[in-house]
Amino acid sequence: MCGIVAYIGKKEAFPIVVKGLKRLEYRGYDSAGVALLHGDQLNVYKKAGKVSVMEEFALGQDVAGHAGIGHTRWATHGEPSDVNAHPHTSMDGKIALIHNGIIENYDVLKRELQNQGYIFKSETDTEVIVHLVDYISKKEHVWFGEALRLALSQVHGAYAIVAISKEYPNRLVAARKSSPLVVGIGAEGDFYLASDATPIVEYTKKVVYLDDEEIAVIDLEEGLKLYNIADQERTPFFQQLEMELEALEKGGYEHFMLKEIHEQPRSIHDCFRGRLNAEEAWVNLGGLRDYEQKMITANRLIIVACGTSWHAGLVGEYLIEDLARINVEVEYASEFRYRNPILNENDVVIAISQSGETADTLAALELAKSKGATILGICNVVGSSISRLTDGGSYTHAGPEIGVASTKAFTAQVTVLTLMALSLAHKKGTISETHFRTLLAELEAIPEKVKQVLETDALIEQIAAEYKDASNALYLGRGSSFPVALEGALKLKEISYIHAEGYPAAEMKHGPIALIDENMPIFVIATQGNSYEKVVSNIQEVKARKGKVIAVVTEGDIQVREMADHVIEIPETNEFLVPLLATIPFQLLSYHIAVMRGCNVDQPRNLAKSVTVE
Ligand code: M6R
Repeated sequence: MCGIVAYIGKKEAFPIVVKGLKRLEYRGYDSAGVALLHGDQLNVYKKAGKVSVMEEFALGQDVAGHAGIGHTRWATHGEPSDVNAHPHTSMDGKIALIHNGIIENYDVLKRELQNQGYIFKSETDTEVIVHLVDYISKKEHVWFGEALRLALSQVHGAYAIVAISKEYPNRLVAARKSSPLVVGIGAEGDFYLASDATPIVEYTKKVVYLDDEEIAVIDLEEGLKLYNIADQERTPFFQQLEMELEALEKGGYEHFMLKEIHEQPRSIHDCFRGRLNAEEAWVNLGGLRDYEQKMITANRLIIVACGTSWHAGLVGEYLIEDLARINVEVEYASEFRYRNPILNENDVVIAISQSGETADTLAALELAKSKGATILGICNVVGSSISRLTDGGSYTHAGPEIGVASTKAFTAQVTVLTLMALSLAHKKGTISETHFRTLLAELEAIPEKVKQVLETDALIEQIAAEYKDASNALYLGRGSSFPVALEGALKLKEISYIHAEGYPAAEMKHGPIALIDENMPIFVIATQGNSYEKVVSNIQEVKARKGKVIAVVTEGDIQVREMADHVIEIPETNEFLVPLLATIPFQLLSYHIAVMRGCNVDQPRNLAKSVTVE
């Protein structure tokens, strides 16, 4: 969480840093701040609230300067307030520092520094770092970059840090451990730093992703140099960004979430483009090819993920077990890592993560790696920590997802998992050639069918208007539609703040049925397939208790239409692919309800896009 941006070069830093912070605001949005070096002045402006509040506060004051650092915060230690906002400064006002992550031993360090006479203004863990850097720099008579390197050996936890000092106006120092940081190399001898590439891409596509425990020293004369914590110089690995600027704009939509929902025909297509050919009957996930035999013979595949990515993992479990007959377990990364799981070199652990930075997912992978398991990743963000840690994997190619509520990333994850299941099944011989070809052709047709589902938007908006004031909602599904129900409930609660739960439809009578009354909307996935008749019975149970049923059905359905209060039709497809279509109406529904309730759709309260704290 928290977004970091910095600039040093010949241009004015303030507009670049503020624009970058706005692009990163999805990472955290409770307070923001900048520090700017102007001559012998270090000007710091910080405010609780959105970046625009801080921007307004700073404009009209001295915002000049060719070096600047900026931060948008998601509070961990200390409430969102002006004083807790970053940057934090040394007591003599010479050094300013921003931080994303958590310093676990901040309390001990704070007490030691207080004993040395340091006075703390904020309740943050970050302030400890800036005072420690100042203390070491004075005690050891070293410049602030060297002091930061020495300080880091005393710090436990996760960090992405950028610091400037008015004693070194041509320098900027950065360090990372478990929190991402990218350096952009501008064409005019200037440098950009950010938590991800989105603030950088409009200026340069040449970047270096910092590795764990790496320190970047940027000097306007000497350029970029990298060191490890032991002060050994490292060779930077330059990469070209593939991201396009338009992908970061709303493109005429009112919200990023709506844009991303509507991008799904393209993002699903981009995800399987070049990876399958129905006519020639092949599927090929390049980044996994070397590990497929290992996956086929593994004890089990363990999928680790959080939130929406965990739901995608559950769909993957249905697909891989059914088609490829390989044992799959899906685990919450946060639980898995703390329960001493039994793992060895015969296990394959697959992390699913849109951001590729989720702290718990990353830690689960590190644990699996330490136990000798093969580790693979399904990530959206290219160059992210998970994609760099894993032995192999597949990118989802959904393009930047800015809305905090995950939409197109989910369908892209499910698409990769479908390709994976098909590829494994084909190699293992657990799928007939005809079935294989049918599924490939059906998958190729999915983007067109998603377009058709998006055309039901007006109907979904009407349904949203009817249920926008509900205080509770239930989502029901069976088989691979059960994770779709979970995902539907998560979408509703995270952006509209209506309490919602997803349940396997048959489980309803073991408890949740007690909640049903005439005010309770129940969203049901009742598409054609093996469990259709069972779901129809579940709908009858709801109706017998006067619950309101909104059913997602297969085009042309008559039986459910007669029972339900509303039906939303999706085109017919193979049962294995239903999650890719059935999830779309729930995304639109949550979106419209949230808008009608006046909620901040793209930046819901208390959330952040990239959860880099445990
Ligand atoms: O970046 P990741 O996929 O690892 O993120 C996992 C969850 O934090 C994320 O899916 C979260 O649940 C979203 N807000 C859901 O919309």
